[in-house]
Amino acid sequence: MEAVLVSFFILVLLDPASLLHLSLKGRTSLRASPSEVVSEAIQKLQEVFAFGELPHNITPAKKPPQFMLELYSRVAGPDGSTKAPGILEGNVVRSFENKVLSEAGTSFFFFNISSVRRRERMLKAELRVFKWKPLGMQARYHFCRVDVYELLDSASRPWRGNLITSRLLPLHSQGWEMFNVTQTVSGWVGDDTTNHGFLVTFTLPSGNVLDTDLSGMTMQKLDSKRSYLVLFSDDGRRGVPNPYMPPTNVKETDISSSSSSDGSLHTTTHKSRSARDVHPDTCQRKPLYVDFEDIGWAGWIISPKGYNAYHCQGTCIFPMGQGLGATNHATVQSIVHALKLKKDVTTPCCVPDRLNSINLLYFDDEENVVLKQYDDMVAVSCGCH
Ligand SMILES: *[C@@H]1O[C@H](CO)[C@@H](O)[C@H](O)[C@H]1NC(C)=O
Ligand SMILES: *[C@@H]1O[C@H](CO)[C@@H](O)[C@H](O)[C@H]1NC(C)=O
Repeated sequence: MEAVLVSFFILVLLDPASLLHLSLKGRTSLRASPSEVVSEAIQKLQEVFAFGELPHNITPAKKPPQFMLELYSRVAGPDGSTKAPGILEGNVVRSFENKVLSEAGTSFFFFNISSVRRRERMLKAELRVFKWKPLGMQARYHFCRVDVYELLDSASRPWRGNLITSRLLPLHSQGWEMFNVTQTVSGWVGDDTTNHGFLVTFTLPSGNVLDTDLSGMTMQKLDSKRSYLVLFSDDGRRGVPNPYMPPTNVKETDISSSSSSDGSLHTTTHKSRSARDVHPDTCQRKPLYVDFEDIGWAGWIISPKGYNAYHCQGTCIFPMGQGLGATNHATVQSIVHALKLKKDVTTPCCVPDRLNSINLLYFDDEENVVLKQYDDMVAVSCGCH
């Protein structure tokens, strides 16, 4: 992944003016690049972010569902950085909207999940249905039973054999209900022919089925609370194991020299070893803001608007000092270079030695909202290797 990132930034730097320029402080672009390089760079970026078809016509006023925004802010900071590993199950969360409106008297839900690839490992599927408070009726009942069925084909009536789950609800409550439909949906992934959707019924203790368009809600109101199918999965994308991982448990402040946006070093109150005598040219982490607006993706990436990938810049000249996380190999190489013991031996390289993941919330080409986590996207610290 590092190699991919590095090559993507090099490609990006080659293009001065147009859609691919990223705000990289203090650098000017090298030269105009041929358009094939630009299109190759875009292609590569699409691969890095594992986007299939890029969405082209997102409805401008389209709003992502609130629960996806909430999930995103639980998982990621405002800049997309992962708050803590393990909050997310897997690395992809897709929300599918019920696009076929219910026919009168039924709560029939169909979700087209054909965008889920067969090799994706499905971890969890959740059906989210909004239950309305019935309007002025059935006053003598306090509860109703909700049944969720899998439909075996679009024409069949429900029967108990394909009941997925059932629960009692206060009749006069209103709000989202979540149902675990993992097992059913697992069978649908990669085989569209078995997916005929769900049927949800609301039954009173008398045995009467509540009119399941939920008592005369207007279509407009229904529309404001569509149902969703939410799939948590793992698509197998993983960062490559980092060969530069420092062997000891070095604290972040020790190995990374932070710098402010103007490039000058912060004077930290607790002076770490690295802060003591860092030469301005010494290997350190510098800002590198990747702006999705500049890449032309701002129309369908909901959050973040961009992120700081950082980059590693500076020299690895002997003596390198403790703060640079130099490997023994790098130390010996820097000595060989300093003493000019061998021709053609350069100084070690200043590279990221720890990388963090970021999260993106975006509309896919069918306007479903997707949350994806990407490993190895942000340089957390730099070192001489
Ligand atoms: C689901 O979406 C795919 C891709 O857009 C489309 O080809 C397919 O016909 C859809 N299936 C149904 C049952 O609507
Ligand atoms: C959901 O259902 C699956 C399969 O039926 C089960 O393995 C899993 O533990 C359930 N998850 C929750 C949160 O109940």
